[in-house]
Amino acid sequence: MLGCSCQPKAEEVSETANKEIVINTTMEDLLTRRSVRSYTDEIPPMEVIEEICKAGTYAPTGMNRQSPIILAVTNREVRDRLSELNAQVMGSDNDPFYGAPVVLVVLADKNVRTYVEDGSLVMGNLMNAAHAKGLGSCWIHRAKEVFETEEGKKILKDLGVEGDYVGIGNCILGYTNGDYPQPAPRKENWVYWVK
Ligand SMILES: Cc1cc2nc3c(=O)[nH]c(=O)nc-3n(C[C@H](O)[C@H](O)[C@H](O)COP(=O)(O)O)c2cc1C
Repeated sequence: MLGCSCQPKAEEVSETANKEIVINTTMEDLLTRRSVRSYTDEIPPMEVIEEICKAGTYAPTGMNRQSPIILAVTNREVRDRLSELNAQVMGSDNDPFYGAPVVLVVLADKNVRTYVEDGSLVMGNLMNAAHAKGLGSCWIHRAKEVFETEEGKKILKDLGVEGDYVGIGNCILGYTNGDYPQPAPRKENWVYWVK
């Protein structure tokens, strides 16, 4: 081969630089994502919500069984009803979705041994992707209980979802209203090095 192999070509340099930018942006997003608990009413563009869902579908799953599904709820009535059912689990009257206009419900097929882990990683991807796209998000729990109710089961049936799906979490989404939350201090002894 002619030429010096230790000198990368211009296009290789820019490719490397791009990779570094992508890697740094990913790190930045992972470190700066926070749970947002105040939202405007505005529904983000559907393409953005679709991209966030896509990131969810690329989460790793045990043996690539892809056990989870996502209900992408932008319909106000259904969103409000899910909020009410969620509040009922807690015996509360407040909106557990903090006014967020969109909820991405992750459920997973309980016949797959890793369904909880699979669904949780989908939740993580959704929250991090939302942050990367400039949206606020938060994991709201009690999806399990909500989809054990007759009404929850009917929502799935009406959507044509068949099978043994268990609610893993609700990823609420929207534009942050007010200041972006600061992270809590990290506890001591998170990492035990074995070198
Ligand atoms: C499994 C799980 C369940 C959660 N459930 C709720 C919830 O029901 N309501 C809520 O406001 N936040 C909920 N959160 C968000 C946590 O409170 C939040 O991640 C934590 O306080 C750390 O804050 P950060 O996400 O801003 O780093 C949940 C998070 C996880 C991982």
